[in-house]
Amino acid sequence: MDFETIKDIDVRGKRILLRADLNVPAQRGKVTDTTRIDRLKPTIDYLREAGAKVLILSHFGRPEGEQNPEMSLAFLVSALEECWGCDVKFATDCIGERAAAVANALGDGDVALLENLRFHKGEKENDPAFVAELAKLGDIYVNDAFSAAHRAHASTEGLAHVLPPVAGLSMARELKALDAALDNPKTPVVAVTGGSKISTKLSVLYHLVEKVDYLILGGAMANTFIYAQGGDIGASMCEKDMQDEAKKILAHAKDKRCKILLPIDATVVRELKNGAEHSHVPADKIPSDMMAIDAGPKSIEYFLDEIKDCKTLVWNGPLGVFEISPFDAGTNALAKAVAQRTKDGSLISIAGGGDTVAALENAGVACDLSYMSTAGGAFLEWLQGKPLPGVAALSHKKKAA
Ligand code: 3PG
Repeated sequence: MDFETIKDIDVRGKRILLRADLNVPAQRGKVTDTTRIDRLKPTIDYLREAGAKVLILSHFGRPEGEQNPEMSLAFLVSALEECWGCDVKFATDCIGERAAAVANALGDGDVALLENLRFHKGEKENDPAFVAELAKLGDIYVNDAFSAAHRAHASTEGLAHVLPPVAGLSMARELKALDAALDNPKTPVVAVTGGSKISTKLSVLYHLVEKVDYLILGGAMANTFIYAQGGDIGASMCEKDMQDEAKKILAHAKDKRCKILLPIDATVVRELKNGAEHSHVPADKIPSDMMAIDAGPKSIEYFLDEIKDCKTLVWNGPLGVFEISPFDAGTNALAKAVAQRTKDGSLISIAGGGDTVAALENAGVACDLSYMSTAGGAFLEWLQGKPLPGVAALSHKKKAA
């Protein structure tokens, strides 16, 4: 990948516009998961020590161009100060006089947070006039927000064309991990994907089949494949109208020499609730009044045996209804085995997207994988092989003055 990072340029005394993704989970004005803030710390530390003046840009929620006090970034200041161990000033607007006053008062090594970018329509519209207003505040543009890189907005794409663009350390780490997962991986490679519907993951499935040697399918999505092959899936969730699409994916996989691995047994219940009575049956012989809600123990053994020589694993989506114990057993068993092999050094494991982080945290192994992406939409678009505008713009060369 062709981009520079903050370590490749001189930042001393320079005003840095740092695009972060502070769209963090919060409840009643308190941050409930600081992972995205923690991951920015190396960039903040580096820039402060190198004597840069740091102006942080971020969105929060989707205020659609309106000034919405409920989506103000002000509540984040104390969480940032606590996590980064430094003062963080706050500007009540991200452009104009209020932003300029805060920017101009910064000394070398100081940090300020600017108000929610999406309070201005120009952010989402990538409006050149808004880009120019932002650019007035800085000398260098740093993008450390991989999780917003699928958006071609003013602060994720536009700015890279008017200020010298470089990656922050978190962005660089993420891109390196993703490159090692699908673009330049140690082979064989296995992808694990779960979730309820193949209709929402068609392009992910087609892309993965072209990239990996094994594709493990779990969740209700697997039922559609089993149904398409003539199996009895009982009362399980299934997209019957997608059976032709499932067949096409199976044929495409064969052409591309990708082996699709489907569950061979399923954990089944009559009713989906906590503590529901459950049993294990062959995944293609589910009684008509039962539904599959997790991959069974034989499936996990089969998956692990099939992928024993794999050196790289990419994971997106749980294998079962992991939110309801004990129907997290399949996901947990596979996750623990993946974590163990990662610790042994025989596997590079990368996970990301929506429910995946929560499922692997529930399994107690989130920290044991080689890399865990906090990106949702951006990770999914990357899994589809789509170019990400925020990443592409970093390759655009405009040298620092
Ligand atoms: C995310 O949390 O996935 C990113 O911040 C992107 O948010 P968005 O979907 O509102 O653009």
